[in-house]
Amino acid sequence: MYALALEQNTLRLEPETTFAGSAGLIANLATVISALTIYMGLPKPPVAGKKPPTGKKILVYGGSSAVGGLAVQYATDAGYGVVTTSSAANRSMVEKRNPSHIIDHSRPDEDVIREIRENGPYEGIFDAIGSTTTTQRMVALLRETGGRFFSTSPSPGDEAIPAGIEKLWAGYSETLVSQAAHRELRTWYMDAYLPAALKKGTIWPNPALWLEGGLNSAQKALDLLYGDHISGRKVFINPQE
Ligand SMILES: NC(=O)c1ccc[n+]([C@@H]2O[C@H](COP(=O)([O-])OP(=O)(O)OC[C@H]3O[C@@H](n4cnc5c(N)ncnc54)[C@H](OP(=O)(O)O)[C@@H]3O)[C@@H](O)[C@H]2O)c1
Repeated sequence: MYALALEQNTLRLEPETTFAGSAGLIANLATVISALTIYMGLPKPPVAGKKPPTGKKILVYGGSSAVGGLAVQYATDAGYGVVTTSSAANRSMVEKRNPSHIIDHSRPDEDVIREIRENGPYEGIFDAIGSTTTTQRMVALLRETGGRFFSTSPSPGDEAIPAGIEKLWAGYSETLVSQAAHRELRTWYMDAYLPAALKKGTIWPNPALWLEGGLNSAQKALDLLYGDHISGRKVFINPQE
């Protein structure tokens, strides 16, 4: 079986790069670069290494998710202190991404919100989960001050977000790879940042959860993802199996 793709969105892999290591990064990292650099306005990190600390902070809600984990690393490498969340089970995995502070999101709403506030203020807020629950937490966080946050997804109840609080979301990776205005950033990503990250292993996806059965497992993969059964893993199927 062969997949069709635009040449500009493909990458030659080094022999030592695994399929899961690269497939787990290419789309989710494009999402992060678009959300944080195009939409939020964060300067990008260097192709290799880290920027000196800016003294500023970003909140990445959902650091144990596939997108959130990469956002933690990207913003950290860009010189930001990153406050993020994880369950206790995934804490040690999230720690490896070098955030400045991790909050256990399984605690009660008021405790989580207090701890987020105590560790701010934030230059930007990125909710990498985008559910009704997380949206409500972001709204509670901003209730007194107002402000905006970026999210990965619309969710039921968004229409009730009070005036003065703005939830913004987009098909982020699509903006990066398809809009002419961002051609330079896409070239930086595909020709410099992503190849360097894959070669040096400086930024990595969540550990792989392989499903057997090739494309016949596609529905099972979707059921796992949409049923909230994935914790700190990235789901893969091999279409050639
Ligand atoms: N707009 C875009 O361009 C774009 C692109 C990619 C993905 N997305 C969307 O982004 C969302 C996340 O995708 P993903 O693949 O990164 O997710 P994922 O890895 O499947 O997310 C699972 C993780 O989310 C965490 N989580 C679940 N509920 C949480 C909560 N209430 N608070 C904090 N953490 C919570 C869990 O953490 P623990 O296990 O530690 O509890 C779990 O590890 C999805 O809605 C997806 O559709 C949007």
